Amino acid sequence: MTKRLLNVLQGKKEDQIPFWFMRQAGRYLPEYREVRATCPSFMEFCYTPAKAAEVTLQPIRRYGMDGAILFADILVVPDGLGQKVWFETGKGPQLEPVHDAQTLAALSLDGFHQRVGNVYETLARLKQDLPKETTLIGFAGAPWTVATYMLEGAGSKDHATAKKFGYMNPDLMTGLLDLLVESTAEYLIKQIDAGADAVQIFDSWAGSLSEVTFRDWVIAPTVKIIEKVRAAHPETPIIGFPRLAGPMSQDYLSATKVDCIGLDTSMSLQWAKDNLQSSGVCVQGNLDPQLVVAGGARMLEEAERVLESFKYGRHIFNLGHGFTPDCPPEHVAALSEFIQNYRR
Ligand code: CP3
Repeated sequence: MTKRLLNVLQGKKEDQIPFWFMRQAGRYLPEYREVRATCPSFMEFCYTPAKAAEVTLQPIRRYGMDGAILFADILVVPDGLGQKVWFETGKGPQLEPVHDAQTLAALSLDGFHQRVGNVYETLARLKQDLPKETTLIGFAGAPWTVATYMLEGAGSKDHATAKKFGYMNPDLMTGLLDLLVESTAEYLIKQIDAGADAVQIFDSWAGSLSEVTFRDWVIAPTVKIIEKVRAAHPETPIIGFPRLAGPMSQDYLSATKVDCIGLDTSMSLQWAKDNLQSSGVCVQGNLDPQLVVAGGARMLEEAERVLESFKYGRHIFNLGHGFTPDCPPEHVAALSEFIQNYRR
């Protein structure tokens, strides 16, 4: 049994389009909420291999996606570097923010792998427990996106605090991004050592930057991470997801040379086909997750439009961003069946 998703990432031909969904493990599933309720601290949940592996497997059992994404969070990296990270219900992620040379100097790679090591253990379990045809996807946040949380101390809509910090303290910003490059590269390498077949780098907030900072804070650090990961694991495909990057996606692709580029909900299918997929790269995306909340004929029509748009090249079906907690599981079932029955 071969892995259809991994094959497509490696440039092999498959008639059936492989699929997985961002946030496929999560609060929209009752069985997820049940396991989650046994662990009040979200970070501790991420560091409990039996539970993290179980919730990774749940959507695969239900829907048979071609890819299983490791259950963890992008904020494992700042936690591993020694920053205080916690989640509060209704408030989302909370961190003790980095705001000067001293708070930055308090973070380091010492002890990083001991602190996050249980994530590697989760992957080792999944390698054993997943169906042999399912591709195991590891992941990390990209330096800019992780830095926004580290600097803001929480989620933010405009990332004003993070941007001002970078503009006013360019040396500290470089220091922070360099630390994230080092730790994230090592983290991904160890995920692959432990069993990940491919990895995705989430740059959820790439779209909030200007052209210049996009090059300095998104492209440059991502290039460095990919060089390091490829030096250790030249065969492992890397998916980049520079969310809301628009036409800068083309520069991102040519500089980083990712094997696959994730397309967000706002990306034009025609533009992506002409400017990204046409270069031979694999594209991944990009159904609006709110269409899956809505369900019905509209969801399937739009899913078909995505499939038809990319059918002459390499494509992995996914959402344009993650499922929201109000997504009805039966709509995910109808969508999965539709994709599984589609032939180009
Ligand atoms: O199924 C999967 O996608 C695998 C696991 C995964 C989670 N987070 C689990 C999670 C992945 C890949 C992530 C990535 C992640 N985490 C990103 C990048 C992708 C994106 O969505 O843009 C970001 C920005 C984060 C940071 C983060 N973690 C936020 C903003 C939140 C939401 C807080 C909230 O209350 O809505 C989280 C928490 C989180 N991570 C949950 C899950 C399932 C929900 C929290 C819970 O179960 O209590």
